[in-house]
Amino acid sequence: MALVSAKEMLQKAEAGHYAVAQFNINNLEWTKSILLECEELKAPVILGVSEGAGKYMTGFKTVAAMVKAMVESLGITVPVALHLDHGSYEGAKACIEAGFSSIMFDGSSLPIDENIAKTKELIAACEKLGISLEAEVGGIGGEEDGVISTGECADPAECKAVNDLGPTMLACGIGNIHGKYPANWKGLQFQVLENIRAVTGNTPLVLHGGSGIPDEQIKKAISMGVAKVNVNTECQLVFAAATRKYIEEGKDQQGKGYDPRKLLAPGAQAIRDEVRNRLEVFGSIGKAE
Ligand code: 13P
Repeated sequence: MALVSAKEMLQKAEAGHYAVAQFNINNLEWTKSILLECEELKAPVILGVSEGAGKYMTGFKTVAAMVKAMVESLGITVPVALHLDHGSYEGAKACIEAGFSSIMFDGSSLPIDENIAKTKELIAACEKLGISLEAEVGGIGGEEDGVISTGECADPAECKAVNDLGPTMLACGIGNIHGKYPANWKGLQFQVLENIRAVTGNTPLVLHGGSGIPDEQIKKAISMGVAKVNVNTECQLVFAAATRKYIEEGKDQQGKGYDPRKLLAPGAQAIRDEVRNRLEVFGSIGKAE
């Protein structure tokens, strides 16, 4: 199946009160594990690529070609969107050009007027090509590619102004943070989510920083309009733990255990297990059928 826009899958999720997972990809192992597990569980999926991960994988064109070829060679039938995560204005344009099927323009650190102007322009460009566009309002706490965002809750009035432009989906801070959550984290701000939802109608909302939020809070957010949950750190942590265990058990020194196909296999399986675990919580298993 060819890559698809995230529009239809998110509208269905919003109406059906479940969330589609966005799993960020960092390399071939990641991509393959996520695609195979989502295919097995018949779950639609969004593959997220940050600008940093795009550079690491030698550019957006390489990523798009690799993902398209892999979807085809693995015989993936569930809907797959290839999505730029936290894109800059230039990055968004580069990914449209490279053949991504979904774009996030993160104008949250810009003055609101500039965020609105650039989001509007990119929505129009994406609409022409049938590409979905995620807009962002208000900083999301934590660090992503070296950028630290301090504003953790979005202003509902700004959310309304950006939502009125007609993005496919809207990311807004509700106390969520990228990376690991600090021990003194206060939890998701459901009142803020309710206020945002009241002025954004049926637009699917996006929860960034999905790793480490207690499952009950994620489920509650989904029941209140969140239709996409982003996960990156959790897959990184389970991959690292499984790889460390393999090496600590000396398995890389037995036979040809040093062959990367063997060395990376436990990490790849750990990602598959984590993907399954998250899809169960998000409620998207079987939704591609
Ligand atoms: P985590 O760091 O919590 O996995 O968040 C990922 C994310 O939101 C990517 O945009």
